[in-house]
Amino acid sequence: MNYLQNIVRSEPNVNVKLLNYLPKIGIGSAREEIFTGLRAKQKYIYPKYFYDGRGSELFEEITQLEEYYPTRTEKKIIAGLTKKLYLDFSGLNIVELGSGDCSKISLLLEQASREELKELTYVPVDISESAIEKSSVELLKRFTLKNVTGIVADFYCQLNLIPKNRNRLFCFFGSTIGNFNAGEAKAFMTSLGKTMQPGDSLLLGADMLKDINVLERAYNDKKGVTAQFNKNILNVVNNLTGTEFDTSDFEHYAFFNEKKSRIEMHLRAMKDMVVNSEPDREAITVRRGETIHTENSNKFSADDVERFGKWAGLELQKILTDKNDWFSLSYYRKI
Ligand code: SAH
Ligand code: AVI
Repeated sequence: MNYLQNIVRSEPNVNVKLLNYLPKIGIGSAREEIFTGLRAKQKYIYPKYFYDGRGSELFEEITQLEEYYPTRTEKKIIAGLTKKLYLDFSGLNIVELGSGDCSKISLLLEQASREELKELTYVPVDISESAIEKSSVELLKRFTLKNVTGIVADFYCQLNLIPKNRNRLFCFFGSTIGNFNAGEAKAFMTSLGKTMQPGDSLLLGADMLKDINVLERAYNDKKGVTAQFNKNILNVVNNLTGTEFDTSDFEHYAFFNEKKSRIEMHLRAMKDMVVNSEPDREAITVRRGETIHTENSNKFSADDVERFGKWAGLELQKILTDKNDWFSLSYYRKI
């Protein structure tokens, strides 16, 4: 998560370009945002701060857990997708928001012809520089693409920086939209709709409401990987702001909030503490039992999925689900 260095890298002999737009936001704004959250009555840290190099690795580990059903369920839907949607990749570029590892996009690219791939530019957009670097290289080992243009950016406020030269298929997998609150999801979809041009389309993954036990198990795995992922956000905050949080002073706490239809993840303090930060900032006080809210993971209905399209001014073409209706993948077009 590099808010400082304005990198533009092109790898020799491979068609990879990497652009980092986080310095346009600036480390100062990131710090202000974090301190505002840590001084709020209910303390919070935005979930985008999970994803430094270690956070991206831990998320990848989560996706392999038996309890974490969303990844394998969505992958099964992606695997049979192009036939069901009559998708044609010719003349298209693919923009993947919150691209993470390249496993889902690989499943999609496997369904394109060699000729289509040779003309295709893939644009992964992610806040995690390491995730983009790693996945771009891996992807080019498997597929002969025209180009990979990796964009390190915050997709909530930097969608306008995505190249517009061809018709684009936007992919937003993983139910990452569920990590926004309702106001943010509406603002995001509105701005995505404005960025999209006639001829562009969107594939959106959304995790659906289901049995509470299944949901709570997925965020409280036996191996404790989700707990490590949750605690790692404090290391990211320490690195970005100079705070001195000790992850061992906190415990992982995740539960389903029925009223709000969302899993909430928190870090609960196991003792009273005063956490130092930069010399000119007031220390942060945390009481024993107090929590820092680190993530919401909203669980949706078919109505919600329709509403996303309306907010963006997109036409909903199809909603695909698995046999249990646990996960949905929706296809929208900008007319
Ligand atoms: N799409 C992948 C990864 C999901 S994890 C999958 O389905 O498995 C969420 C991804 O979104 C992470 O790679 C994280 O780095 C990225 N991300 C989270 N918030 C972001 C933001 N505000 N801007 C850009 N990327 C973000
Ligand atoms: C990326 N996001 C959709 C995941 C989720 O399920 O909300 C992140 C995650 N948090 C805990 N486990 C996985």
